[in-house]
Amino acid sequence: MFVNNSDKDIGKEIAALEALNYVHSKMVIGLGTGSTAKIFVDLLSQKYFKENLNIKVLATSSSTELQSKKLGLPITSIDCVDYIDLTIDGADEVDSDLNLLKGGGGALLQEKIVASYSKRMIVIVDNSKVVSKLGKFPLPIEIVKFGSKGTQKHIENTLLKLGYSDFSIKLRKENDDYFVTDEKHFILDLSLKKITDPYTLDMQIKKVVGVVETGLFINMANSVIIGNDDGSFKLIEREG
Ligand code: A5P
Repeated sequence: MFVNNSDKDIGKEIAALEALNYVHSKMVIGLGTGSTAKIFVDLLSQKYFKENLNIKVLATSSSTELQSKKLGLPITSIDCVDYIDLTIDGADEVDSDLNLLKGGGGALLQEKIVASYSKRMIVIVDNSKVVSKLGKFPLPIEIVKFGSKGTQKHIENTLLKLGYSDFSIKLRKENDDYFVTDEKHFILDLSLKKITDPYTLDMQIKKVVGVVETGLFINMANSVIIGNDDGSFKLIEREG
């Protein structure tokens, strides 16, 4: 079972293929957002029809929902379920504690809500996403539009108080306009180079009025599947 992706996507596809083994009938499956999640959704639809699976899927973004609809997957909504059995999502970075930096695709808020409803979250990445410390990839922060300039200033002050001095922060743009999330918010992309304490950073940024969520997913992933270009993969499970 393969989708037709370019050679550079082999690691993503290997991880997505392995994640399929965790999908069983009678499950509600949370579907992530991004290029790796997109591969998984393609593969899941093949498995769904081939094995006549009895599942429901729940998308973390309008783009994943559209893809799922086009593929004929049975979609449910977050308000129709008490919990999600399994969520499969990608990440921009994964550290050795299985903490994640996510939101490069702008879907971090819904991704975090879906992950928090999930009994199990499996993250699928190629090996380029594995880092010793999170933060090389700019951290997305979802903020409300109202007062966005002031919110940015307050986040900058918070960062200075936390001891970060060498950072840049900017509102994400798309084409000539500001990027707007599915929930109609803005995204600030924060370049810190290295995050020393992801938990504290997440907590402190979220104390700023106007901040909705950050792309730091702390203690949320249960397992990470890392796909390699040579066709091998590594499964890392959270202890406890
Ligand atoms: C979407 O908002 C993100 O959290 C993605 O899950 C993450 O950016 C990984 O995307 P790729 O699989 O495209 O790298």
